[in-house]
Amino acid sequence: MADLDKVKEAKEFHLDKPVESKPFFLKGANSLDWGMQNRFSRIFNPESGRTVMLAIDHGYFMGPTTGLERIDVNIVPLVKYCDALMLTRGVLRSTIPSAFGRGVVLRVSGGPSILKELSNEQIAVDIEDAIRLNVAAMAVQIFIGGEYETQSIHNMTRLVDIGNRYGIPTFAVTAVGKDMKRDAQYFRLACRMCAELGAQFIKTYYVPEGFETVAASCPVPLVMAGGKKLPELDALRMAYNAVDQGASGVDMGRNIFQSDAPVAMIQAIREVVHNQMKPEQALELYKTLRDEQK
Ligand code: R5P
Repeated sequence: MADLDKVKEAKEFHLDKPVESKPFFLKGANSLDWGMQNRFSRIFNPESGRTVMLAIDHGYFMGPTTGLERIDVNIVPLVKYCDALMLTRGVLRSTIPSAFGRGVVLRVSGGPSILKELSNEQIAVDIEDAIRLNVAAMAVQIFIGGEYETQSIHNMTRLVDIGNRYGIPTFAVTAVGKDMKRDAQYFRLACRMCAELGAQFIKTYYVPEGFETVAASCPVPLVMAGGKKLPELDALRMAYNAVDQGASGVDMGRNIFQSDAPVAMIQAIREVVHNQMKPEQALELYKTLRDEQK
C-alpha cells in the first residue's frame, strides 16, 4: 500500500512561468499526433529540421543493382551515417542489425519488376508487420500520369488511413516513368496531389528550373530523390540547391552507394544538408575522407 505518512506538501508550481507550447519543427506537421511527430523525429534531425535518408530499396523491382549486390558488405557500414534508412522488410529482417536506432522508412508498395509496367503496384505489406518492425514511416510509389495512376493514388490514400490509425506517417514517392516530363510543373502537380490526399511527407526529384515553386506549393516536407549516379560534385550541388530552395533533406541511393567512396560521400552529403556546407568545400571533404579511408 502507498505510504501516505509525512507526504510533502506540493508547493513548486512556478506560477510565474506559463506552460510553453512550442510548434513542431517540420512544416505542415503541427497538427499531427504525438506518436507521428515522435516518428518524424526519428527521420528528421530536430536540430537542423532536415534528414539524410539512405535509399536501398531498389531491389524490390530491380533485383541486385550495382552497389547493392551484398548489402551486408556494402551498406551496413554506411547506416550509422544516415538519419533514416529506406528499404524493404526483406532486407531489414535479413541483413540490418536490429540495434540500428534510427528511422526505418519501410517500402510497402510493390508488384511489377522492371520487365513489366511499373505503375501497376499494390500495397505489399500488412500494417501489422510494419508495426512489428517498429517503422518510422511507410513509403509508397505514386505514378501521376502513369498507366495505373489512380491505383497508385488509392494505394497511398489507403495507407494514409491505416497509418493515421496507428500514428505512422506515409511517405509518397513521386515516380517518373519513361515518358513522363521532369519539370517543375509536373512535380508541383504530383507533390501537391500527394499532400492534398494526405501524405505526411513526399519524395520528389530536383529540377534546376523552379524547384523552389515545387517546395513552396507543397504544404508538407519534401525530400529530394537522388536519381541516377552523377559525378560527386554534381550530386553535392544538387543536394545543396534542393535544401537551399526548400527541401527538408535528401533521400539518396545510387549517388551514395555507387560512389567510389560511399562512406566519404554520405558524410559530405550530411555536411551539405545539415550544415549548409558549400558543394565545392564538401567535395574537398569527400576527397580527404576518401583518401583517409583507402
Ligand atoms: C524510387 O523510386 C525508389 O524508391 C528507389 O528504389 C530509390 O529510392 C531510388 O533512389 P536513388 O534514385 O537515389 O538511387
